[in-house]
Amino acid sequence: MADQATRQRVDVLRRELNDHNYRYYVLDDPTIPDAEYDRLLSELETLEEKHPDLVTSDSPTQRVGAAPAAGFETVAHQVPMLSLANAFADDDVREFDRRIREQLDREVIEYAAEPKLDGVAIALRYERGELVLGATRGDGRSGENVTSNVRTIRAIPLRLRGADVPSVLEVRGEIFMTRSGFAALNQGLTEAGDKTFVNPRNAAAGSLRQLDPDVTARRPLHFYCYGAATSDGLPQRHSDILDALREFGFPVSNQVERVQGADGLLDYHRRTLADRDGLDYDIDGVVYKLDDLDQQREMGFVSRAPRWALAHKFPAQEEITRLLDIEVQVGRTGALTPVARLKPVFVGGVTVTNATLHNLDEIRRKDVRPGDQVVVRRAGDVIPEVVRSMVEQRPADSRPWTMPEQCPACGSAVEQVEGEAVARCTGGLVCPAQRMRALEHFASRTAMDIDGLGTRLIEQLVERDLVKSPADLFRLDVPTLAGLERMAEKSASNLVEALDKARQPSLARLLFALGIREVGGVTAANLARYFGSLERLAEASIEDLTAVPDVGPVVAEHVHNFFNEPHNLEVIRALSEAGVKYRPEQVQQGGELPLTGKTYVLTGALESRTRSEAKAALEALGAKVTSSVSKKTTTVIAGSDPGSKLEKAESLGVPVLDESGLDELLGSV
Ligand code: IVH
Repeated sequence: MADQATRQRVDVLRRELNDHNYRYYVLDDPTIPDAEYDRLLSELETLEEKHPDLVTSDSPTQRVGAAPAAGFETVAHQVPMLSLANAFADDDVREFDRRIREQLDREVIEYAAEPKLDGVAIALRYERGELVLGATRGDGRSGENVTSNVRTIRAIPLRLRGADVPSVLEVRGEIFMTRSGFAALNQGLTEAGDKTFVNPRNAAAGSLRQLDPDVTARRPLHFYCYGAATSDGLPQRHSDILDALREFGFPVSNQVERVQGADGLLDYHRRTLADRDGLDYDIDGVVYKLDDLDQQREMGFVSRAPRWALAHKFPAQEEITRLLDIEVQVGRTGALTPVARLKPVFVGGVTVTNATLHNLDEIRRKDVRPGDQVVVRRAGDVIPEVVRSMVEQRPADSRPWTMPEQCPACGSAVEQVEGEAVARCTGGLVCPAQRMRALEHFASRTAMDIDGLGTRLIEQLVERDLVKSPADLFRLDVPTLAGLERMAEKSASNLVEALDKARQPSLARLLFALGIREVGGVTAANLARYFGSLERLAEASIEDLTAVPDVGPVVAEHVHNFFNEPHNLEVIRALSEAGVKYRPEQVQQGGELPLTGKTYVLTGALESRTRSEAKAALEALGAKVTSSVSKKTTTVIAGSDPGSKLEKAESLGVPVLDESGLDELLGSV
């Protein structure tokens, strides 16, 4: 037998755990971290294990019990679980209010307005304060006894709070899964290779109907209470009943409000709809209830819905429609995005004709095919997406969709690098979709460094079709340029001069300027040094390419694909015809890198790269990068706010470079 002190400790622990649960789920105001809760719970578990005679069925340790032996039994509801009449339009709401005013002969009606939670309805029966039954709605007259699963949901009290509790109380409410919990659950299921749930409501329903309560216990289920089956011993207003239920330990949505008249209802609907996307759970509308219970009784029921309540739905966020075709859009970076062309469908409050399919992997994973009936989702302002296909309804002759092999914008080859989800057009320099960005990069300071050729000007040149590919830049003359917006004779001739100066880049700069995927300044320099000429680089095999320092299989494939695309070779030829002649490079294969044996120290903030990017770039060229300055330091590279390292360098007579000096160093070697 347990001694007095143990009994007291067990009592204290139970009370504290129940209080913390109440603070967490009902008041939404926890005072201890989860880890502390777990510690208290495990202390109670240990005591109960030692003293089984102290275990009670409503102890916080007793949430997970045995599974029902023969599945769920059917239980009759003592008070039927009704449904609600639905309204979609404001006029339906005005009509609802008008009927009530008329029948009750009142000018203004007071309502309780609540969110309509999108989960699973549940009836919870408490006898002498203890949870004895949890039942699903079923057909409204009888449902399934899911008590063992309901007990695992921590938001549902196993015992009512307070000393003065009714001998019998049946509360009604909604079990639901939070959006964040749903996302985490699905991610876990995906990682385990298991089937995922379509939406939080299905996940909640599936979790509640698990035969093993252990599984339910691990699902992130939550509960909000929205009423009681009978009003015996409870207040006479619905909103007061909800407050009383809160006192008994039930979580109630904090969006419940008391409002007046049709205008109050419609205003509540508008405000709640605006809040919808910010919530961590799905709501599919709002529910209006006559607040006064006497008035409710006077209104009565029709068929299986009360005449004193109304569900005012929000526009559905998911609808089914036909996928007419899958088209491909080319982005500024050359990424190909499959876009669903849909039979127009009203979803999330607007008519949708296009939706994103993200990428080929997604299409394969979801097995979405042209001609399918598909579920389209549009939540708030987010881009509509195709969630899944109704595979069962698919025509027998449907074929899986494949990515086109040629870019729909320019006809260049499409590449899909192993392990990357995104397919890309390889015609960056000629593809109209990518032209703007490719030219911007080509002209930029670290590439061809064409002074005065900024974004605004490039935009005009592209829009007026004056420049299609980089070589066209070098054919621009002063009169053409001077005729553009924000340009004059002087700025035009400066630009022509700058273009002239840019005609003799280093091979490294030219290579970088071509914008080959994943070929940055350092890789371009390494490729230039290794191959010495564009011709030799263009002929290199993947194997040759991977022999270059800093070039892995992915970069090698990008370079190889680039030089295999005839459009790109054409651009290089055109550049040469326009007078662009790169300076030849000393070939240096293997052996020493250009900065081998040199030691650098980086200090202060750099502008166009982080310190660790600068470090990586220097190391790729063979340099050592250390953190403290000594006589052995070759050079200190100082950004803004350099601090004591700069002083030390100056006192030791170590040379110092600023960021543009670093640019030159990286670009010139
Ligand atoms: S009251 C007699 N209030 O909607 C009134 N129901 O169509 C019965 N629901 O299956 C329900 N949120 O599970 C009520 N705040 C709320 C609700 C709500 C969601 C569900 C309920 C029921 C369905 C009624």
